[in-house]
Amino acid sequence: MYFSNINVVKVVYINFKQNSCCQTSLHPDDMKSSFREIRQKDTFWKSITLDQLQAFEAAARHNSFTRAAEELFVTQPTVSMQIKHLTQVIGMPLFEQVGKRVYLTQAGKEVLNTCQEIFRCLEKLETTIVDLKGMKQGRLRLAAVTTTKYFIPKLLKPFCELYPGVSVSLEIANHEALLARLHENLDDLYILSCPPETQDVQAKPFLDNPLVAIAPANHPLANKRNLPLNCLAEEPLIVREEGSGTRKVIQRFFEQHGICPRINLELGSNEAIQQAVIDGLGLSVLSLHTLNIAEVRNQLAILDVQGFPIRCQWQVAFPKKKQLSIPTKTFLQYLLQASQNFCIDKYN
Ligand code: PGA
Repeated sequence: MYFSNINVVKVVYINFKQNSCCQTSLHPDDMKSSFREIRQKDTFWKSITLDQLQAFEAAARHNSFTRAAEELFVTQPTVSMQIKHLTQVIGMPLFEQVGKRVYLTQAGKEVLNTCQEIFRCLEKLETTIVDLKGMKQGRLRLAAVTTTKYFIPKLLKPFCELYPGVSVSLEIANHEALLARLHENLDDLYILSCPPETQDVQAKPFLDNPLVAIAPANHPLANKRNLPLNCLAEEPLIVREEGSGTRKVIQRFFEQHGICPRINLELGSNEAIQQAVIDGLGLSVLSLHTLNIAEVRNQLAILDVQGFPIRCQWQVAFPKKKQLSIPTKTFLQYLLQASQNFCIDKYN
């Protein structure tokens, strides 16, 4: 429970003290007895902890110390000890045994009612705080690889409309720069297609990221079907810069198929590559997500090459040990859900 470490009763005590301090017109003897009373209550309130109340409430509800311990993930002697301390502070037995059965005493029933009231109040407070802090005025820091910029804003729009109080920042960088950010724990979530395969990072796939081979629309290979993979080795190839995730996937793919491409140009952006392909500087392999502008589409052809498209998936990643904020968790859920209805426009 959210408030498990708080000694709630202290708050009540402070109010009690403040009220008592207002009674300045008392006779000195009355003052003395009043202070004695305060000191007794002081000990009473200070000695009761939320753990004791939780242990007692669970034991009373289940009528079993063992089941209370299971529910609270503590040992049975811990529950017994908590209830023993609570009984001492109350100064009256809370349970009584009649025959083989254990019942709550009158004092036990009173304590149980109070416990349940306190827990109800705390749960309400918890919801209110989450609401206040979380989705009404939260913050979400996203970092995504360059190629995601073609679809992430589309997915973000409904989320921002739904939660106008959450301020969202989106850092765009290439794959390697993103990994460095992840390593330094600079953002809440990272969106990329090849997350590091280490134990400390959790990644969830949420959308397809097919990589396609492209040529100028008037290229001799443009209308051919089922081209052998080798044809890409015979043509000059334009690739993204070192550190790009797209480049990493392509390199791995060619290596796996024993192909040695002729790289004649390296460019730092998908748009620059598309333009270079249109201008006849070579062929390339890019994410289908980058081909979403009609003007570009009309000037390019997706080649029908064996083994293509290269199938990748966009993943959302975060450090396993990271405590995700409410806006982050909400966005994560939203992303996994919303991406199911998201389709990449088909080229051709
Ligand atoms: P990139 O990454 O934009 O750095 O090429 C793309 C990816 O991770 O697939």
